[in-house]
Amino acid sequence: MNILLLYFSATGNTAYYAELLARSINARGHRCDLMDIEKHFNTGEIWRAEPLIPRYINEAENRLPLEVKLASAASVQVSADASVDNVSVSAVDISAALSPGAGTLIEKASLKKTFDDLDKYMSNFDIIGFGCPVYFFEPPAVFSSFIKMLKPLDGRKVFTFATHMEGPVWFAQNIRRSLEEKGFSVIGHIDDHIIHTELLPLAPKWLAGEGVRRFYLSRRLPKIKRKIRFFLDSLNMVKGAVAKDITPAAFSTAPGMDRFVGGLVEKFLYASMKYYLGSRILEEKCVKCGLCAKTCPMNLIKMDAPGGYPLRTSHCMYCLRCINICPTEAVSYAPLYDNKSRFKGFDKL
Ligand SMILES: Cc1cc2nc3c(=O)[nH]c(=O)nc-3n(C[C@H](O)[C@H](O)[C@H](O)COP(=O)(O)O)c2cc1C
Ligand code: SF4
Ligand code: SF4
Repeated sequence: MNILLLYFSATGNTAYYAELLARSINARGHRCDLMDIEKHFNTGEIWRAEPLIPRYINEAENRLPLEVKLASAASVQVSADASVDNVSVSAVDISAALSPGAGTLIEKASLKKTFDDLDKYMSNFDIIGFGCPVYFFEPPAVFSSFIKMLKPLDGRKVFTFATHMEGPVWFAQNIRRSLEEKGFSVIGHIDDHIIHTELLPLAPKWLAGEGVRRFYLSRRLPKIKRKIRFFLDSLNMVKGAVAKDITPAAFSTAPGMDRFVGGLVEKFLYASMKYYLGSRILEEKCVKCGLCAKTCPMNLIKMDAPGGYPLRTSHCMYCLRCINICPTEAVSYAPLYDNKSRFKGFDKL
């Protein structure tokens, strides 16, 4: 069988997981191709064409609007009450690009051919896997927009995969619903946690060095691989299987207790957002290389703050790409992140 794994990954976990899945599938005598959507699509454009703003982004912005630029660590701190009266306010706002109108429609039309081509390409595969990280129990905004842009397909078999920290909670149901709305037949879901890239920018450097990460990953890998084996077996994806042999895996909703705890965690995360989300470029560290702007999957960073520094604008999904990729650690959402660890990718692990 031909299988395509199509994914978005901001800090590398999901890409790494997709590779592990692909290796297992290939080892069963099937052909598995990988598609990192960012290599073929401009995810920022897709998101503007089909704008989706998950609740947590709104919650974050209500507390700390991103048009507000916090000039430097020395001169401005995120205050406990998240007051933003004392910092410079920039006029940068992309709300115009997000409101329905000619601009949005033109972008959507120009993307149509790309999605038609993707549709043709996808028809070469018997099964498609959709993968992404879990953000506040949902797919990332750009990935949800990507799914919205897909051409509807009757009954094509797909499965979903995800990486996360400790609590995906109702993620599987959310992504399943969005794929079923497009006419896909969702036959299963698998997720796991790989490296805690979400915690690293908050962890002291002495505690979360490369050695520790390597050790952690080596301990996790056997469990991750076992879970993948079990998942593929449960779909009946064995050597020599053909598409009609594939059976939907049992699909359970998140247990009541998980949902209850998830709800409490969500409330806590919203209430404390003002302490850990925000926009803070440490100008004394920034060398204006523009890497953060170039690699932002939402195309949200402009290099046009006074002095040519980067400015993070509205609707950021907090994917952690810019904070990790900055070579000088000049991106720091809030003081909690200053001088902490950064994740530079799986190559070194
Ligand atoms: C904004 C944000 C929200 C997150 N929300 C959750 C969550 O609700 N549950 C969870 O278990 N992990 C959550 N995580 C952790 C990510 O899912 C995890 O780091 C993931 O493996 C990152 O994948 P990537 O490296 O492919 O981008 C969140 C991470 C970010 C950055
Ligand atoms: S990646 Fe870092 S150093 Fe480069 S422009 Fe962005 S904030 Fe400045
Ligand atoms: S501004 Fe940074 S955190 Fe926000 S979407 Fe872009 S890269 Fe991700």
